[in-house]
Amino acid sequence: MKSRALVVRRTHGENARLELMRLGALRTDLRILRDGDWVVLPVVESAEIPSGLGEPSKREFEPLRAAHAREYRDLVQLPATERELLPRSFDIVGDVVLIRIPPELERWGPDIGEALLRFVPGARIAGADHGVHGTERRRRLVPLAGAEGFRTIHRENGIAFDVDLEQAYFSPRLAREHARVAEDVEVGEEVDDLCCGIGPFAVTIARDGRARRITAVDSNPAAIALLRSTLARCPYADRVEPIAADVVAFLSSARPVDRVILNLPHEGIKYLPSVGTIVRPGGVVHYYEVTAREGADMRAEDLVNRIGGRAHWSLIDQHVVHPYSPQDDLVAFQFARADPAEDA
Ligand SMILES: C[S@@+](CC[C@H](N)C(=O)[O-])C[C@H]1O[C@@H](n2cnc3c(N)ncnc32)[C@H](O)[C@@H]1O
Repeated sequence: MKSRALVVRRTHGENARLELMRLGALRTDLRILRDGDWVVLPVVESAEIPSGLGEPSKREFEPLRAAHAREYRDLVQLPATERELLPRSFDIVGDVVLIRIPPELERWGPDIGEALLRFVPGARIAGADHGVHGTERRRRLVPLAGAEGFRTIHRENGIAFDVDLEQAYFSPRLAREHARVAEDVEVGEEVDDLCCGIGPFAVTIARDGRARRITAVDSNPAAIALLRSTLARCPYADRVEPIAADVVAFLSSARPVDRVILNLPHEGIKYLPSVGTIVRPGGVVHYYEVTAREGADMRAEDLVNRIGGRAHWSLIDQHVVHPYSPQDDLVAFQFARADPAEDA
């Protein structure tokens, strides 16, 4: 059967499959094609696909299971007026499915949970996601259906991460950003991953093998414990040093490095000036912030001043990681420190 399709590199196939599934954009009635280094995913005709996820195409697919629903929403029995409020998208983290349910549908939570468990292959538990809270950005979750517990193993960019969604921050929506930053790292670099959470930037960089040393810092001891338990399975674990500490204490005695990642989108601005001081000439900072869609360019100017001024720093990249709210985006800003030796 012919269908709209998305062609992606095999190495990014799993990320893209999860992203399309999350958006309700993956056709689950057709079999995914594998073609050498490429994976071809069947996508729903009317779905909006984020740019950069893959190459749009049309392909012939084999039907998977005639009886399989196209959307989880087809499996929820609801009155028509309430049906319209069912969200199309959900998140998959390992064998956990998370969904944000509008208040009007809360009483249908268990039915929605059951439908998600039937729809997502391998799902063990479905939970209502009430967002991340507090300094440690822990997720507030309410079980809807399935077996207890939000600890799981999630595969991202080919790495198996230990995740406990209630104990430490993790978002499957950052998978492409983790890979993108790791691809940027050059041979022999020393890298600090500040506010590392369970360490997806640090571990992906270590797996890629070019960095000499990666220090991963987070004030949540549970996040660092999960990072250690992920590293226990990795042959490249010795390149990562996990540290449970506050970023201020760490920065007060930090050694100079080639690259810093600072991913604390609502509060990271407080630390940006000190981060600037530990980066070697020619080094790079990846800084993340939730920014109003209107005015992100002006924000970049302001950030250059905060990190150390135009004479020493320049903006080398700025892109939207994902929409955050109707008005705001999570934006990645990348700054480079001038190297007087190269300018001479
Ligand atoms: C948005 S999460 C970062 C997640 C991670 N970088 C990733 O890509 O999945 C922010 C993290 O910053 C940590 N954090 C918050 N304030 C901190 C501080 N002052 N010092 C160190 N870590 C902090 C939180 O515990 C949380 O794990």
